[in-house]
Amino acid sequence: MKKIGVLGGGLMGSGIAQVAAQAGFTTVVREVTTALGDKARANIDRTLTKGIEKGKVTAEQREKTLANLAFTTEVAALRDCDLVIEAVVEDLEIKNAIWRELNAVCPPRTIFASNTSSLTIAAMAAASGRPDRMVGLHFFNPVPLMKLVEVVRTVTTSDETFRAAFDFAKAVGKEPIAAKDNSGFVVNLLLVPYMLDAIRALEHGIGTIEDIDKGMMLGAGYPMGPFILADFVGLDTLYKIAEIMFTEYRETRYAPPPLLKRMVLAGMFGKKNGRGFYDYSGEVPKPMSLGI
Ligand code: CAA
Ligand code: NAD
Repeated sequence: MKKIGVLGGGLMGSGIAQVAAQAGFTTVVREVTTALGDKARANIDRTLTKGIEKGKVTAEQREKTLANLAFTTEVAALRDCDLVIEAVVEDLEIKNAIWRELNAVCPPRTIFASNTSSLTIAAMAAASGRPDRMVGLHFFNPVPLMKLVEVVRTVTTSDETFRAAFDFAKAVGKEPIAAKDNSGFVVNLLLVPYMLDAIRALEHGIGTIEDIDKGMMLGAGYPMGPFILADFVGLDTLYKIAEIMFTEYRETRYAPPPLLKRMVLAGMFGKKNGRGFYDYSGEVPKPMSLGI
């Protein structure tokens, strides 16, 4: 593989593009507008600069990474990629519309991979027009720092595609694991109910946002408490994930809590727009009162 396409330059798309470019792949990111493409580029540059400050990235690596990156608004610009990784909003119709558009311009050899959190790869295989070359590549947030990638084969994925996706994950410095094409794969099957349970605990007045976060960090060794983590994932994304997993499993532990729904309706998407369980406008995140 030489050339990688990334659909979406949001939280995940920009991270995936960074690690691909950093590993030496020519990487093209498709965003819906030029302004969003510029924002994705600036985010990648910021992370690389932080990496330099931490002594993890050299100035030369930053230059090379940025030189390997291109941004476009045209899906057709990804036509000569060997692998295209999709990281657009968690919405099956939007994802499948893009797969159809891409299938019309890419040669049959191009592998299509989705970074979906909760949809099944099977739900996208038909729209991809290449069910044997459709696979899941589930990266974790923040992509440059998290080591894991879940590589997901659905019933139609060929051995060759699975191996190529697994090898790609290794080539970008990650530790891949194989996961079954189950909504939520391995990690979100366990992690999503945990975040939703924390919200339910807050709704039931069991503890404050700060105390529940502190409890899980200091008492269970998590690097982030569940509310900081939910804000970090994005509450809009977490809500969509919960809806999809609840529809799939019909188990109450995946049901989105009413408080989460109200916050998303109020436009509180977490860290990415400055307001979620915490207010990010100051130097230190401050817990929101949320009228509870
Ligand atoms: N480039 C390269 N390396 C960097 C870097 C950069 N820009 N910035 C930091 N690093 C390195 C640091 O040097 C450090 O390395 P060492 O441990 O070798 O010293 C390491 O990365 C951690 O960096 P920090 O010490 O600055 O960061 P931290 O200790 O505050 O940890 C964190 C940050 C890794 C994000 C940690 O808080 C964490 O693991 N949080 C939980 C994240 C999580 O659970 N993510 C999953 C979300 S769910 C998901 O993704 C799935 C889904 O579908 C929703
Ligand atoms: P985000 O909100 O940061 O970015 C969403 C992206 O989708 C943006 O690039 C946006 O321009 C694009 N988009 C929105 N509407 C579109 C449309 N109609 N057509 C084409 N593109 C459109 O979201 P994110 O957190 O980067 O999530 C992207 C994917 O990655 C989702 O499938 C999500 O479930 C998955 N994921 C998220 C996380 C996380 O922690 N946030 C972790 C792993 C996987």
